[in-house]
Amino acid sequence: MRAIVVNEWGGPETLVEREIERPEPGLGEVLVRVHAAGVNPVDWKTRASGALIAWGETPVVGWDVSGTVEAVGPGTTLYAPGDEVYGMPLFPRQAGGYAEYVTAPARHFARKPASLDHVQAAALPLAALTAWQALVDTAGVTAGQRVLVHAAAGGVGHLAVQIAKARGAYVIGTASAGKHALLRELGADEVIDYRTTDFEDVVSGVDVVVDAVGGDYTRRSLKVLKPGGHLVTLPGPDGIPADTEGVRASWVLVEPDLQGLREIAALAEQGLLRPLVDTVLPLEQAAKAHEIGELGRTTGKIVLTVA
Ligand SMILES: NC(=O)c1ccc[n+]([C@@H]2O[C@H](COP(=O)([O-])OP(=O)(O)OC[C@H]3O[C@@H](n4cnc5c(N)ncnc54)[C@H](OP(=O)(O)O)[C@@H]3O)[C@@H](O)[C@H]2O)c1
Repeated sequence: MRAIVVNEWGGPETLVEREIERPEPGLGEVLVRVHAAGVNPVDWKTRASGALIAWGETPVVGWDVSGTVEAVGPGTTLYAPGDEVYGMPLFPRQAGGYAEYVTAPARHFARKPASLDHVQAAALPLAALTAWQALVDTAGVTAGQRVLVHAAAGGVGHLAVQIAKARGAYVIGTASAGKHALLRELGADEVIDYRTTDFEDVVSGVDVVVDAVGGDYTRRSLKVLKPGGHLVTLPGPDGIPADTEGVRASWVLVEPDLQGLREIAALAEQGLLRPLVDTVLPLEQAAKAHEIGELGRTTGKIVLTVA
């Protein structure tokens, strides 16, 4: 099968197309023919150094896939060949999403929302599961709460805005001014231009912060929380101080999650969650996808078409 292999850890040019062996589904696994593969910052972060995960002999980055079940391994009853599924299999172990086929435990996939095509569905799993697990599983957001989303127009952010809104929250987002109209369309109640305004000067009494920026945003965000509020940071735990004085702060690492994928699919089917696709490129242009993504200006997601 065709796959994009990391030839050596380094820049986008180290991504090269190769023919590699097609995987076989093992016990409890499905073999999925990939129609589209989503691109995430973890793809270029791992490509750059090989750090964070243990790689197989042939490193293939990518976790977000949408496709069709081609075959099922022994003991698998959840899906049958021909079923359309989407998911973020195996994360943070190697899944090999930038390829024509992937195998993984059946429950790392859910049925693709029928209202979305494969490109839209491949934009969802990692970013939407991150938003869901941060807002719902970690912070337990409830109706009427005030939620601040940093990088609200990014891959995770634009989905976090919509999920928070769907749960009845009042949503505030940070983004550059050109993205404000779009964020309001997605349900943001307030938007802050982080290039002209320090968010902590204009926001307070927040129940939940989803911090997709990190760095000094993590520490600064603690100041806008109300007592008992919860900051969930995504890039890493480094910015969380030892003493958070009456508020909670967590770093959350996204996990494969059938229930989360089903909840996300249900929101998409109800028209409450709309993935924005910034750029679509064919699989062979994965290096270009990384070059664009690494600029950090994406609105929504970058997706590779495979089948
Ligand atoms: N822990 C986990 O499991 C997990 C999961 C997913 C992602 N992450 C991490 O979370 C981070 C975000 O991921 P992503 O996929 O959302 O990234 P992304 O889509 O590449 O983010 C791009 C967006 O960031 C915005 N942005 C950049 N700097 C900003 C700032 N200072 N304030 C507000 N917005 C800013 C940009 O908007 P402008 O053009 O307006 O600047 C752009 O829309 C990455 O570090 C990623 O590795 C962690």
